[in-house]
Amino acid sequence: AQVDKGGHRHFMAKEIAEQPARLTDLLGAYMGKDGVELPAPGIDFAAIERLTMVACGTAFYACLTAKYWFEQIAGLPVEVDVASEFRYREPPIGAGTAALFVSQSGETADTLAALRYCRGKADRILSVVNVAESSIARESDLALPIHAGPEIGVASTKAFSCQLTVLLLLALDAARARGRLDDAAFAARLDELRTLPGLMNQALGIDDAAHAISARLAEARDILFLGRGRMYPLAHEGALKLKEISYIHAEAYASGELKHGPIALIDKSVPVIVMAPRDELFDKSVSNMQEVMARGGKVVLITDAAGADEAGDGVWQVLRLPACPPALAPILYAVPAQLLAYHTALAKGTDVDQPRNLAKSVTVE
Ligand code: G6P
Repeated sequence: AQVDKGGHRHFMAKEIAEQPARLTDLLGAYMGKDGVELPAPGIDFAAIERLTMVACGTAFYACLTAKYWFEQIAGLPVEVDVASEFRYREPPIGAGTAALFVSQSGETADTLAALRYCRGKADRILSVVNVAESSIARESDLALPIHAGPEIGVASTKAFSCQLTVLLLLALDAARARGRLDDAAFAARLDELRTLPGLMNQALGIDDAAHAISARLAEARDILFLGRGRMYPLAHEGALKLKEISYIHAEAYASGELKHGPIALIDKSVPVIVMAPRDELFDKSVSNMQEVMARGGKVVLITDAAGADEAGDGVWQVLRLPACPPALAPILYAVPAQLLAYHTALAKGTDVDQPRNLAKSVTVE
């Protein structure tokens, strides 16, 4: 069936806006009465000792985020690599390893080759895909659909939030199987997840504010994204979105690495976008922000109401998101990453849905 823009100016705008609805579909498909329902044959996470995750582009940042969840919530060691590096490194894959491939299209050549490398070595081959009939889905022991619907914009948006949500469900399932969450704690986590579509809907309310900030970002030559903990991969996704469609040079750093190099770039012409909900690492992010501001850097702080109150003076721009359970923050903060890139690209007049030199699916090496 032909997919249209549903009244939006671009596919990307439509795909950003429909995230609450797609996440509702996704949660409906995976949440049973008392647990996460995976398609047959499922996976026994109690029998797995480590997880190797491989992907490209935005899907790679979904994997990096999921590493925090699998390790912190499920106590499962995770290794993450970009698909183009993975197989040439000839990583040893021993018994007790499950390999998990994340791909919107399910056809990315490097990701498929990485999957084939793991065949016969890993105990189980899992994939998280949007296209259920894809090569990667077909060649997996267990393929988990993300229910995002067709994604047309080259820059991935709703596929990212849906990949993250499936990966979080999987991490919760693993945590229960591995005795890290008892029934009550597990049920509480699922209740948190049920609030996600409503939170995403509220997050979309920053559209006008993101538009206003983007008019200023469009003047920059370089933009830095900072994040800590689970927000570090989101900083990468924010920088990737921005460079893909606005062609502005953007880089992401773990906030704590600022002083090991990128601080040399800071002056008043470099906006620094800090993604920092008011969580257990917030104070550390504030001191990193102060290091930036002391050098004239212009900080755009993406946070919640409590974070905005505690950030102190000198922050150039604040984007306020709803407060949310810590585990959900990386999914929620995808929205400002997407909207800042979208509006900055509009301000620059670039082709948002078909950025130069990029392809939706890279089926050659
Ligand atoms: C291309 C697309 C990206 C995507 C990446 C991986 O670079 O432009 O948006 O994240 O491929 O694609 P996949 O289909 O494997 O998720």
